[in-house]
Amino acid sequence: MDRFLDAIHARVAAHVNQIAQPRCATVQAFDPTNHAVRVAIQPEGLLTGWMPLGAVAVGSGTGIVAPPAIGDQVLVVPQEGDSEHWHVVSRIFSQVAMPPVSPATNKPVQSGEVGVFTNGAYLHVSGGTIYAQASQFKLHGNLVVDGSISSTSGDVSDQHGSLDRLRGNYDRHTHSSLSSPPTPQDSE
Ligand SMILES: [Fe+2]
Repeated sequence: MDRFLDAIHARVAAHVNQIAQPRCATVQAFDPTNHAVRVAIQPEGLLTGWMPLGAVAVGSGTGIVAPPAIGDQVLVVPQEGDSEHWHVVSRIFSQVAMPPVSPATNKPVQSGEVGVFTNGAYLHVSGGTIYAQASQFKLHGNLVVDGSISSTSGDVSDQHGSLDRLRGNYDRHTHSSLSSPPTPQDSE
């Protein structure tokens, strides 16, 4: 009887061993059209075929996407245990790719916060404040602000010119009945 059970256990173990398990891997190639990747399964370094890259949100023409870089560490899961069909289900920070330090707080993004970081620009939602930095913010569409707008070191302009130039022209203008500019002046 023991031999019989041992034989069954051996058959079951052999079968279970054939079921592929989730594995860590590194990205080796990225298809920017389909957002598919090829990865090297670690630690063997076995190169896979193309597989879908999981995303935070997907839809028809919608989504939240952040394409990977070559070398990024990911977690891959075999579809129904099939080692020929993998999916990237997660991206994993590592000792060589640590979570980014936010320029806004000089710390990695903390629990309850949200951050988006690229080379040259970032967006960090922390508490009641949204910190953002970029060489340019390009908005297409109307901007509606329920509050004040202030520029501490720049200008505010419309298609005719800046408010500063408008103020200068106003302060210089004269009336034909006056020899000097009328009051009030706007020197602010
Ligand atoms: Fe006037």
